[in-house]
Amino acid sequence: MSFKPESKTPNSAQAAQGETPNGAHTAVDVVLDTAYQGINPSQWSDLFAQARKSQLSQFIADLFAGKHINQSEDRPALHSALRNLSRSPVILDGVDVMPAVSEVWHRIEALCNQWVGVTDVIHIGIGGSDFGPRLAIEALAHVPGIESRGMRMHFLANIDTAELARILDRALPHSTRVIIVSKSFTTLETTMNAKAVVAWLKASGCTKSQINKALYAVTANVPAAQEFGVQEDHIYPFWDWVGGRYSVWSAVGLPIALQYGFKTFEEFLAGAHAMDLHFKNAPLEENLPVIMALALLHQQEKHGIKAYAAIPYADALDWFPKWLQQLDMESNGKSVGKDGKPVKYSSPVVFGSAGSNAQHSYFQLFHQGTEIIPIDFIAVRKPMSDRPEAVAHHRILLSNCLAQAQALAHGKSDENPNNVYPGNRPSSLLLLPELNAFYLGALLALYENRAASLGALWNINSFDQPGVEYGKVLAKPIEKALASGSDHVQANDGIDAITAARINFLNS
Ligand code: F6P
Repeated sequence: MSFKPESKTPNSAQAAQGETPNGAHTAVDVVLDTAYQGINPSQWSDLFAQARKSQLSQFIADLFAGKHINQSEDRPALHSALRNLSRSPVILDGVDVMPAVSEVWHRIEALCNQWVGVTDVIHIGIGGSDFGPRLAIEALAHVPGIESRGMRMHFLANIDTAELARILDRALPHSTRVIIVSKSFTTLETTMNAKAVVAWLKASGCTKSQINKALYAVTANVPAAQEFGVQEDHIYPFWDWVGGRYSVWSAVGLPIALQYGFKTFEEFLAGAHAMDLHFKNAPLEENLPVIMALALLHQQEKHGIKAYAAIPYADALDWFPKWLQQLDMESNGKSVGKDGKPVKYSSPVVFGSAGSNAQHSYFQLFHQGTEIIPIDFIAVRKPMSDRPEAVAHHRILLSNCLAQAQALAHGKSDENPNNVYPGNRPSSLLLLPELNAFYLGALLALYENRAASLGALWNINSFDQPGVEYGKVLAKPIEKALASGSDHVQANDGIDAITAARINFLNS
């Protein structure tokens, strides 16, 4: 890897005019600067040739056209329709899905005006039914000028009752609304937590009709939600053509509209839609999600990287890496390709947390460890609060972000080996003009489309998740054995000797 001076520093004339640095690309006002990836022009052209060989453009067209690209489940992946604010027809198996999508938008907007006097919302869901809305609620909380209804938004995901106890200690039962969010409506954590919350409402003296009034559901399995006891007009549907981890754009994102208003929710969708239009229409060489995917592929092929990090220099985006972990690793953490054969590459491990905090944690390894970990630095041009200190603090935040990238790229020699920085550590800079609902939507859609591009390059189906099932199956006999209270459980078909010993220890 080498970093030529002309590709690492912005051209001063351009910078003076506020233009983007050399080697940077812009879409939806989001700037992607790959100058520190150490990829030279001939390597870039090889990478684009590889993208063409993988028929990436055809894949992108098929994705938006509603082709059944999720072959194993024989479905399309049409989350882009959920943010298609143009309402142009999206035909799935001969039927336009947009009227159904628009109807849900109308219902969400109507609900925003109905909830008066609500103090607490308990959003119950896990994985894709949790990360997206949780991230958005956190990220937008301190956007200067944002209007907030000021409800306490509680997210209940874990079956561990610590989260449940914390929420129920704070919420006021008679002015609480509960939203049960589950695509399948069979997820054990979610249904058990929902039962516990209903029991709490009852125990707090809420009548049956008050509980009916409080309960809402968002699901692709409407009959199961009805069976649970949610009244029909409180159920917000979404569809099997939306993957759980791609579902924040559906009514799963209801908390965003309820807390910040429908207009803000629409702006969130609009940012994502704008990024979709870019992904669908831009040539590969200018296509941000594609460029990001190819940069990662390059680091895999040339340097055998096994992990990468996403570091948002924005405290508001601290949940972003957790959202990204599910997106990338559940989508592309697979060893077998669409043809059933082993793949050469799949998702590296993804991790991260907000900078500059992260600098004081694991950046030591980035600078001097034996592993090369490519980094996406995500920065925001405008300060993220309207505090009097904001400008000065933000300058320090940005200078730290820029300094880390430069230090990682160039390294530093020293007589003392302990003080040597090897350098040649690749990174990209993503720069958002500001943090608001629009650019948050654009950022998430950028990474969704990057994950889809990587799947296409690796020949992986990014839209199923068979690997999450086996553990759930095995948990059932183990739970039964734990419930038996016996400390003489024997190994059997579902429980091996090591696990049997652990059960016996727990039961003793
Ligand atoms: O276990 C993984 C998973 O199926 C994710 O794909 C999904 O986001 C999560 O569980 C929750 O599923 P559901 O929305 O059906 O409750």
